[in-house]
Amino acid sequence: CYFASALQLMATPLIVAHRGASHDAPENTLPAFELAWKQGADAIEGDFHLTADGKIVCIHDYDTARTTGTKKIVKDSTYEDLTALEAGSWFAEKWKGTHIPLFSEVAATVPVGGKFYVELKCGPEIVPVLIRELAQSTLTDEQVVIIAFDPKVIQTVKKEVPQYKAYWLSSFDKSSPLKPSADAVIKTLRSIGADGFSSKADPRLNQAFIQAIADAGFEYHCWTIDRPEEADRFEKLGAASITTNRPEFIRERLTQ
Ligand code: G3P
Ligand code: CA
Repeated sequence: CYFASALQLMATPLIVAHRGASHDAPENTLPAFELAWKQGADAIEGDFHLTADGKIVCIHDYDTARTTGTKKIVKDSTYEDLTALEAGSWFAEKWKGTHIPLFSEVAATVPVGGKFYVELKCGPEIVPVLIRELAQSTLTDEQVVIIAFDPKVIQTVKKEVPQYKAYWLSSFDKSSPLKPSADAVIKTLRSIGADGFSSKADPRLNQAFIQAIADAGFEYHCWTIDRPEEADRFEKLGAASITTNRPEFIRERLTQ
């Protein structure tokens, strides 16, 4: 609808803390999420995988090498294996002693009114476990946003728990012109029942692309922006949220 898309184009974007305040604290850890809230983020974004014993843990990569110094494949490890690892000192010595958190621990940091962008990094098998976790949390339906690159995951979420907003994530390939095209994106969004599209902040994205997404009735969101000029550009393009490693810094710029 024209009115809804015009509203999206006018609103100030929500500031979403990418993996927490990950410019200042080790990504996807409780200190990074707590710092994001202190920095005034509207939302936190975290990456989630299912462990071998059916728990949901917060880590970006498929293995633990980069953020703990010990390589364990997340899906083949138990929660006990993973929580024994130290996940803070790779970033800076002052964060030593931080661990890979459970979904429930990250959810518990979300204050009243804050939003939680839950990125599902594995396949649809995580969805029933997530639904149980969400039911046990204090989060309202409006606070939760599910995001995933795998369209099957978004399709499953919208089928099982349509009350949660769900956005399909996509990068663009490096070839020109921009692919996937707005038409191809809209086709995918319709086929999986997504509420919106969330893309890498590609410099080739223009007003026509974003307007086409909005005119088709979908929200547009972007990641990961740490440069003020880029944040200004995507605000003007009408992004409903900007995901950043630096929530305080980007918010100050946008409110100037
Ligand atoms: O918000 C989406 C964004 O986090 C996707 O990229 O690799 O940082 O999970 P990645
Ligand atoms: Ca992510």
